Amino acid sequence: MADRRTIAAYDLRVDDYVRLTKRTKPHETLIQFIARVRPGGYVLDLGCGPANASAVMRDHGLRVDAVDASEEMVRLANDTHDIDARVATFDDIDMPEAYDGIWANFSLLHAEPADFPRYLSALHRALVLGGVFHIGMKLGDGEARDRLDRFYAYYSRNELLEHLTGAGFDIDRIVTGEDPGLAGDIEPWIAVTAWSKPDTL
Ligand SMILES: C[S@@+](CC[C@H](N)C(=O)[O-])C[C@H]1O[C@@H](n2cnc3c(N)ncnc32)[C@H](O)[C@@H]1O
Repeated sequence: MADRRTIAAYDLRVDDYVRLTKRTKPHETLIQFIARVRPGGYVLDLGCGPANASAVMRDHGLRVDAVDASEEMVRLANDTHDIDARVATFDDIDMPEAYDGIWANFSLLHAEPADFPRYLSALHRALVLGGVFHIGMKLGDGEARDRLDRFYAYYSRNELLEHLTGAGFDIDRIVTGEDPGLAGDIEPWIAVTAWSKPDTL
C-alpha cells in the first residue's frame, strides 16, 4: 500500500521537485534505457513524478504509461507534458506481459521492505520476455523517514542485486553516484538496468 505521508509530502512540494530535477539534457541512464527498449515499444514510468523521463521517452518514439500515487504530481505531469499520466500505485501493476520496458526511477525506494520482493516479481511479470527494467534507488541500510516525512527503505548494492535476480532479472548495467535530494542531503544512489527472463528455464 502507498505510504500516505510520503505521498502527502510530494503533493505539497511539486514545485520544489520540478526545480530540483530540471535538466538541460536527459540523464545518461535514461538514454541507455531507451536504447535497450525495442523501437516504438510500450513503457511504464512507475512513480513518474513530473514525467520528465516519460516526455523524453515519448520524444524517442516510445509509447508511455506514466503513473504516480501523487495526484498533484499527475496533475503537474499532464499540465506540463500532456502525457495522459494517471494516478496508480505500485500495487496496481498486475498486467502480465504488458510492457517492453519499465522505468522505476527513485520511486520504489518508498516501498515497505516487506512489499519490495512482491513488487519486483509483479514488475517482472508485467514485462514481455526480454523486456528492459531500470531501477534507481538510494544506497544504505534500514528504513527511515526524512525531514519531509517521506518513508525510505535503503539497500546495499548486493542486497538490491539479490532482490533483482530473485525476481527473475538478468543484471545488465550498474551505475552509482551521489546527488542532493529534495530534503537537501547528498546521498549515494545506484541505478541498475536488467532484462526479464523466463521464470523457469
Ligand atoms: C523521488 S520521486 C521520483 C520521480 C521520478 N521518477 C523522477 O525520476 O523524477 C518518487 C515518486 O514516487 C512516487 N511514489 C511514491 N510511492 C508510490 C507508490 N506507492 N506508488 C506509485 N508512486 C509512488 C511519488 O509520488 C514520487 O512522485
